[in-house]
Amino acid sequence: MSSNLEQDILSRRTFAIISHPDAGKTTMTEKLLYFGGAIRDAGTVKAKKTGKFATSDWMEIEKQRGISVTSSVMQFDYDGRRVNILDTPGHQDFSEDTYRTLMAVDSAVMIVDAAKGIETQTLKLFKVCRMRGIPIFTFINKLDRQGKEPLELMEELEEVLGIQSYAMNWPIGMGKEFLGIYDRYNKRIEQFRTEEEDRFLPIDENGELAVDHEMKKTSYYTQAMEDIKLLNEAGNEFSEERVTRGELTPVFFGSALTNFGVQTFLETYLNFAPTPQPRLTEDEQIIEPLNKEFSGFVFKIQANMNPAHRDRIAFVRIVSGEFERGMSMTLSRTNKSFKVTQSTQFLADDRETVDKAVAGDIIGLYDTGNYQIGDTVVGGKKTFQFERLPQFTPELFMKVTAKNVMKSKHFHKGILQLVQEGAIQYYKTLHTEEVMLGAVGQLQFEVFEHRMKAEYNVDVRMEPMGNKMARWIQNEEDVKESMTGPRSMLVRDRYDNLVFLFENEFAMRWFQDKNENIELYSLL
Ligand code: G4P
Repeated sequence: MSSNLEQDILSRRTFAIISHPDAGKTTMTEKLLYFGGAIRDAGTVKAKKTGKFATSDWMEIEKQRGISVTSSVMQFDYDGRRVNILDTPGHQDFSEDTYRTLMAVDSAVMIVDAAKGIETQTLKLFKVCRMRGIPIFTFINKLDRQGKEPLELMEELEEVLGIQSYAMNWPIGMGKEFLGIYDRYNKRIEQFRTEEEDRFLPIDENGELAVDHEMKKTSYYTQAMEDIKLLNEAGNEFSEERVTRGELTPVFFGSALTNFGVQTFLETYLNFAPTPQPRLTEDEQIIEPLNKEFSGFVFKIQANMNPAHRDRIAFVRIVSGEFERGMSMTLSRTNKSFKVTQSTQFLADDRETVDKAVAGDIIGLYDTGNYQIGDTVVGGKKTFQFERLPQFTPELFMKVTAKNVMKSKHFHKGILQLVQEGAIQYYKTLHTEEVMLGAVGQLQFEVFEHRMKAEYNVDVRMEPMGNKMARWIQNEEDVKESMTGPRSMLVRDRYDNLVFLFENEFAMRWFQDKNENIELYSLL
């Protein structure tokens, strides 16, 4: 491998921002892109989100809902690194794709609203990151507003998420009295709302403000110093190794909206964020990013980004080597080789064609129905398959039928394809074989309905079954059909595994009390 290519690969930092809606992900993304020079005006991403941006070539359903930047990959250069931020849609557009995106990153940034603490969606996404053991960096946002006490927030992180934390910096005051942050890592105080030059104040060897400054006289400074003393004595120690293993989360405080603490965060983060990581194949070979041969896997398929062309885009995370437009690659599942003449990459402002990309990067391949979620593509002659992407436990279910029974063939073909593609999950009742769909977010159903009409010309009838708790069964042979009931429905998944759909937590516990021998488990 040429040293240039090696350098290119090692410069990549690929991450996703996880948060609960409204915690400030869009604002933060915008500020990061702004620092990286990827956008001129910190307002572009927001404008897209709120629909003020021209979204002519985005999927129709997204336009209607004013969602955009879906699935985009935003790229910028900073301090010799090439940063790839993968978007993880929130709100109603939360879906399995959101989870799967986390399979394609090497680290995650978790944004927490200081007033709200850890919220449900953050928790779900956090669990997926934890399962992968990737480093997680925390940014506690909105310090310009009154929020929870910083020590309380740290405690919440540890208790609710079960991860140890290390405060990289500490707020001095909050809300109207927010004076700045005490930066433990860079050993300085960064003042809030102060001009560039005199923003930073030095701290001495005792950890005290080294210069005469009015801040020193405030109770907020005294409080911060007390807290820091406590952290120094009783808090966790910083360990880069434990950060890398995802066992310790470095915590930063700041305010994305006022652009405070963001640059410091970015710079510190980039010092610790991992380079592209190796991946395992199904037969447990390790594929290193610096391997000469190109390889990658499909983690997301986006349909109809341009309705005029009915195209689909398969998003590929490059695991090793280099991609060049025009190169040949082989799809491992089918062993078919093809030349990639069209490829696309997503930047903040527009789609661009990419000619070259390396391990750590994401490319979008135009797809006419060849790819499935989890597919492996390789550049060399020897094919292999990356580990299967996990299946996620759906929480929402719908019964679905074709409005016109004459369309039954198209109906089944459409479902099969969309299920294989990973857009939705398939379940059926035991004897009547009624079709049910499972999803983690409502939008998946809407996309399904829309695509069945647009691509397969089938109108579907969707009958909500509401939230269910799906549980798979370790010892299927012990399951009796008499165990099924209105509150504990027994169905089969697409691989023919038995699954109980419980009405709620209570129904599940009631079932377990009655049937102690049945071992239930959930997917991720
Ligand atoms: P999201 O992508 O995570 O959903 O959050 P987003 O960035 O859209 O932020 C949600 C709201 O929180 C926005 O206000 C945004 O301006 C605000 N916000 C983000 N960061 C900060 C911060 O550091 N301090 C304060 N005070 N507010 C912050 P909004 O009223 O919903 O939208 P807008 O009318 O301001 O655009």
